[in-house]
Formats: sequence, C-alpha cells, structure tokens
Amino acid sequence: MQLSPVPTTRAAVRWSLGHALPRTMLRRAARQGDLHGAMFVATQSADLAVLEPVLDELRTHGAFYRGKFAAVSVDNATVRALLSHPDAGSAFGPGDAAGRIARVQEWAMSDAPLGPLTPPSLLVTEPPDHTRYRKLVSRVFSVRAVERLRGRTQEIADELLDSLDPAEPVDLVSTYCSLLPVTVIAEILGVPEADREKVLRFGAAAAPSLDLGLSWREFRRVEASLRDFDEWLGQHLDNLRREPGDNLLSQLVSAQEDGVHLTDAELRSTAGLVLAAGFETTVNLLGNGASLLAAHPDQRAALAERPELWPNAVDEVLRLDPPVLLTGRMATADLELQGIPIPRGAVMVGMLAGANRDPAVFTDPARFDVARENARDHVSFSAGRHYCLGAALARMEGEVGLRSLFERFPDLRVERGAVRRSTRILRGYEHLPVTLRPDAGRSSHR
Ligand code: HEM
Repeated sequence: MQLSPVPTTRAAVRWSLGHALPRTMLRRAARQGDLHGAMFVATQSADLAVLEPVLDELRTHGAFYRGKFAAVSVDNATVRALLSHPDAGSAFGPGDAAGRIARVQEWAMSDAPLGPLTPPSLLVTEPPDHTRYRKLVSRVFSVRAVERLRGRTQEIADELLDSLDPAEPVDLVSTYCSLLPVTVIAEILGVPEADREKVLRFGAAAAPSLDLGLSWREFRRVEASLRDFDEWLGQHLDNLRREPGDNLLSQLVSAQEDGVHLTDAELRSTAGLVLAAGFETTVNLLGNGASLLAAHPDQRAALAERPELWPNAVDEVLRLDPPVLLTGRMATADLELQGIPIPRGAVMVGMLAGANRDPAVFTDPARFDVARENARDHVSFSAGRHYCLGAALARMEGEVGLRSLFERFPDLRVERGAVRRSTRILRGYEHLPVTLRPDAGRSSHR
C-alpha cells in the first residue's frame, strides 16, 4: 500500500468534515451534558458495559432523545420505523445548511476513493436507483446461493480447526474468527489463490472505512487501501468478464434486469462492501459469540443437548453483542415518527444495540439465553430497504463457525489479555486468547 506523499487538500477537507469536526463537536456536547455526545464518548471504550448506563438514560426519554446534533433512539419500534421510513435517507448531505457547505462537500468528495460509504455504495443509495440495484445484487446473494456455500464453509472451518494446536494458547481472532469469513468472501469474489494475501491485506487496512471519528493517519491509510483495492478490482472484473468463474461475483457481472446490468462502479462498490463486511462484521459475530459462549457453560450445555438451537444462539449473540452498534439517517422531508415531528434535514441515530435490549420486546434483556424465543427480533442487520444483504450468509457462517468450534473444543476457555477493537461503530474483539483444551494442557504440564 502506497500512502501518497502529498495529501490532497480535498482529502484533508473530507477528513475534517467526516471525522475531525463531528468528533470535536460531539465531545464538546458531551461536556455540556448532551446524551448523544456522552454516547459518542462512551464508544471510545470498546466495552459495552461503559455504554450501558448511557443507553439506560437515553431510554428514559421515550421514542427519541433530542440531542444538539441528532435525535437518538434506543426504542425497538422507533428504530424499526426510522429505518423503514421512505423519507429517512441513508445519505448524509449538509441538510438545510446547504449553499457553501454543500459546494465544499461536493468539491472535497470529487476525488474520494470508492468506499462502503461513498456513492454508488448500496448503503448510501436511495430509491429509485437503490431498488433496481439491490434487486440485481440480492438475486445473486439469495438464501439458496448461501446454502450452497454451507458445505464449503464447513470444510474451511474444519481445516482451520485442524491447524490449531489444542495444547497451546491461541488468539482465536487471528487464527479462526477472521480467517473463516475472509476465506469464504475470497471465494465469493473469485479471488485467485495467488492474489489472496494481497486482497486480504487491502481488506484489513480498508476495514475502518465504516467507522466514524478516524484519526488523520488512519483515514489516510484507509483511503490508500481503498484505492489499491479498487485498482485491483478493476483488473479482476476485466478478467471475470473474459473468463467467468464459478463464483458469485461472476454471476453479479452478468446479472441483468430488463436488459440492464450493474455499472462498473456499482460492481466495484458492491464487491468492496462485501469484502469490508467479511472483515468488520462477521469476524465480530464469531469473536463475540465465542466469548459469550465461553463465559456461559449452562448455555453451552443447552446447545450440546439441543443442537437444533444453534441458529437461535447465533441470533442471541447478534442481539446481545451486535457487531454494528448504530446507524444514522437524515430526514429528506418533514416527517413524523411515532407521532413525533422531525424537520427536513434532521439527523437521526438508530441505536441498534439499544433497540436490541428494549425491555418492551425482550424479557430480562441483559441475559444471554440461547433458547430465547424472540431472539430473532433484534435489529442487528438493520431493517427496511437497507436490511443487510449478507444476513443469510452471516447467519450461516456464524452457525457453522461457532458450532464447529464448540463441538470440537467444548471446554474452550478465554484467557487473560482479551482486547476489544478500537472502532466505535463496529464492535468486536481484536484479540481473544483462548486455551482450546484446558484439561489436556494441565495434564501435559504435570
Ligand atoms: C454479522 C455480520 C453482519 C452484520 C451485523 C451486518 C450488518 C449490516 C447492517 C446493520 C446493515 C445496514 C446499515 C444501515 O441500515 O444503515 C448492513 C447492510 C449491508 N450488508 Fe451487512 N452485516 C453483516 C454481514 C454482511 C455480509 C457477510 C455481507 C456480504 C454479503 C453483507 C453485506 C451487506 C450489504 C451489501 C449491505 C447494504 C444493503 C443496502 O444498503 O441495501 N453484510 N449490514
């Protein structure tokens, strides 16, 4: 990866508007007692326990807490209504401050690399473009297509587990939780064996592109990797057009609706989003799940007795420790949500982690219960038109990954030294040291 020696003024403005300014404003708001600001500051700690009191306080404000910069909701019904509202858009413009700021933003974005949060990413596209584009992509990422990947995912999980030495402590994130989803995604994207290492490096470096409040250094590293990945992807797509392979990206290249294909930028953007999702979300599902299950022997015992509960256990992990903490929307027109008027241009934050612990929906919400009947009512995959396109894939990988791990190593123990990631919106473990067979280890040391 090459960092350009002279950062462009545009990049500096992009960073200021997208990261430095929100960070400064929210920190200041926190000092003035604003709960949205307090929430931002609490996300500096990767520990969900630090955020919990803020979520509880936000809940006392009903459907929405009106912060200085955004209306924040931790209420399950309101978050769902927000994410499904036709006039709540996922693209963030300067709102009614328009005029000069809008022009500066447009100018600064004109040489931004293609990324998960820049157009034409599905995440920031709205109807009618979103409808056409999503239809094409979801045809390829269908539940049936995902089920066809289950056997291969199982093989990858088994190979990875075979390569671990049960007698030695291992970092479960680097040896398993990250390798499983990225290997699956490399196959979905049809990455040739020789390019795997390189693409995985781009992915790891570009991953924080989904986060907020990056430092200048991180921001530049992320942008440089996004450019490298995009360049590689352009060539890779040309190769797939000439010689399509048996992978989902090749199908996406030829997918069409009424004779219309995805544009080249849409294809590159979707592939980038899929890669980022593998690095930043599914890896967290596996790490968070391994940690929760390791800490709850009664729940492991329930799963050993009733393995049919595994899919539900994955949803319970997603509910209690969601890989994506929150998402935002901007009102594109004056609107009403749960009877509350919201003016055009207002920013709204849906706290997915808060909605997942709404006591009106989940009994004893802080309890980890793999048999919880409505575990699937979480909003960890969002809701409405931007509902996660990879949800079926992530659930399948979570199920195969966690089940294979605990069936092979039922007594797995987390050791001291677990470290959560420093990203704010994406939540998971950076390192998770474990002993796979604690008893075997003890007897061999006798
Ligand atoms: C546990 C793993 C995952 C979680 C928690 C997750 C979460 C999310 C969330 C919360 C959104 C919507 C954000 C919003 O509404 O603003 C989203 C969208 C999306 N996700 Fe995932 N995701 C996961 C895995 C994946 C995977 C494996 C893929 C790869 C296929 C994927 C592809 C996408 C795409 C393409 C979108 C954009 C959909 C749209 O805007 O129409 N995700 N994901």
